[in-house]
Amino acid sequence: MKKIGVLVSGGGSNLQSIIDSIEAGKIDNVSISVVISNKEDAFGLTRARNHNIPPVVVKHSDYPDREEFENELIKILDEHDVDLVVLAGFMRVLTPLFVNYYHHRIVNIHPAILPSFPGTHAQQQAFDYGTRFSGCSTHFVDEGTDTGPVILQAVVPVLPDDTVDTLGSRILVEEHRIYPETIRLWAEGKLSIEGRKVRILED
Ligand code: GRF
Repeated sequence: MKKIGVLVSGGGSNLQSIIDSIEAGKIDNVSISVVISNKEDAFGLTRARNHNIPPVVVKHSDYPDREEFENELIKILDEHDVDLVVLAGFMRVLTPLFVNYYHHRIVNIHPAILPSFPGTHAQQQAFDYGTRFSGCSTHFVDEGTDTGPVILQAVVPVLPDDTVDTLGSRILVEEHRIYPETIRLWAEGKLSIEGRKVRILED
C-alpha cells in the first residue's frame, strides 16, 4: 500500500475528489495517511475527519521562518510514512529545503495550462488575458513556482458569457478528474520523469 499526504489551505475539493476515487476503487493500493493544513479553519480538515484521515494543523505563523515551518511538515509527513506529497490548494511557497527532501515526490495541481499563468489567481489571469481556452495541469514540483514537469492537462473553453467564477467552476470539474487520475498513474508506477518531460508508460 502506498501512502500519500495531502497539504491543503482551503476548501479541499481536490482532496475530496481523491478520497472519492480511492473509496470508489478507481485508485488501487493508495491510502491517504494524513491531511495537513496551514490554516486551522480549512474545510479540507473537516473532509479528512469525515473519512477518518488524521487532520493536522501546522500554522505557518507559529514558525519564525519558512524552513522551520517546513521542517515541521517534513516531521509529520515522515511520521506518517508518506511516499508522495500531494499539494491540493496549498497556498504556501515551498523552499528548496522541502522540495529537495521530497525530490520528485511532490505533485501539484494548477488551474491553468502551464506554462501559461503560473502563480496565484490563474483563472483570473487567463480570463483577463482573453484566452479562448484555459484548463488545468498536474505537475511534479521543482524549486520554481509551477515550473516542474507536467503530468496531465485538461483544456476547457472560455465562453463569451463567462465570468471568472463560471470559468473557474468549469476548470474545477476537470481538476477533479485529472488529479485522481494523476495519483492513479503514479501509484501504478506509470510516471517516468525524463528531464523536463514525464513519460506515461502504457500497459
Ligand atoms: C484549485 O483551483 C487548485 O487548482 C488550486 O487551488 C484550488 C484549490 O481548491 N491550486 P480546493 O481547495 O481543492 O477546493
